[in-house]
Amino acid sequence: MLICPICKNPLLKSGGSYVCSGNHNFDISRRGYVNLLCSRSSKSHGDDKRMTAARSSFLNAGYYSRLRDCICDNITCGPVLDICCGEGYYLEGISRKLAVCAPDSSACGIDISKSAIDFACRRKYGVQTELAVANCTNIPVSDSSFACAVSVFAPVSEQETKRILIKNGCLIRVVPGRDHLIELKRAVYEHAQLNPSFDNSLNGFELKNAFNLRYKMRLDNTEAVKNLFVMTPYYYRTSQSDQQKLRSVSSLDITAHFYIFVYRSV
Ligand SMILES: C[S@@+](CC[C@H](N)C(=O)[O-])C[C@H]1O[C@@H](n2cnc3c(N)ncnc32)[C@H](O)[C@@H]1O
Repeated sequence: MLICPICKNPLLKSGGSYVCSGNHNFDISRRGYVNLLCSRSSKSHGDDKRMTAARSSFLNAGYYSRLRDCICDNITCGPVLDICCGEGYYLEGISRKLAVCAPDSSACGIDISKSAIDFACRRKYGVQTELAVANCTNIPVSDSSFACAVSVFAPVSEQETKRILIKNGCLIRVVPGRDHLIELKRAVYEHAQLNPSFDNSLNGFELKNAFNLRYKMRLDNTEAVKNLFVMTPYYYRTSQSDQQKLRSVSSLDITAHFYIFVYRSV
């Protein structure tokens, strides 16, 4: 499934590494993932450890389980690639669903963040599931090798996603809905705004189905409120004084609002 990011030949497991016929060698980490990111820049990539840990705690508490169920309901066969899988919450659900509906199938998750993939390795998957640090604009898997791709709150490279899917392959994309987390924004900002409308067109894909999932969640402890804030991009864009406003918030009723788009590659 995985290919060498340098020469594009298939990667095979050999001892503690993945090796290709061009003799490029990639170590498998202690946790079990492989880093296939070609960039050797020391700049950190993707979500950092703090954001990843906050997201993992928040998601494990089940607040987005309805979203995970909706994604899994739309998965009927594999292999499935979770592009920008983060700490693996959705990938774990997908892999377990595959164990029921397509047990001989497999799954794979990629993310540019090493911390996120490291967390993802700790989850319990249903079918064989590989994890790699990689960029969604240069996905290290062969052409037409996945029946389904998933992208949740993440950037999508249309060309690259189309390349890795089989003909008529499925893409499930989740983006924040108009009202998503509006109460959290109001608790922090003076002029909180609803999310702008979203253009769901994707080159090379035909929209087959769309879901509008909207519900209220009660966050009844400071830790959950803090985790939700830290896992969002707002955290890094908010001044210290605005961040302080959440310190004393011990419970909050918050709207979760997701648009879920199901496409077919054409
Ligand atoms: C908002 S998080 C969503 C993570 C996961 N899909 C979820 O919903 O829990 C966005 C993720 O995209 C990853 N990411 C951002 N740019 C990326 C890129 N160019 N290639 C791969 N992953 C990327 C980040 O590291 C982060 O894990």
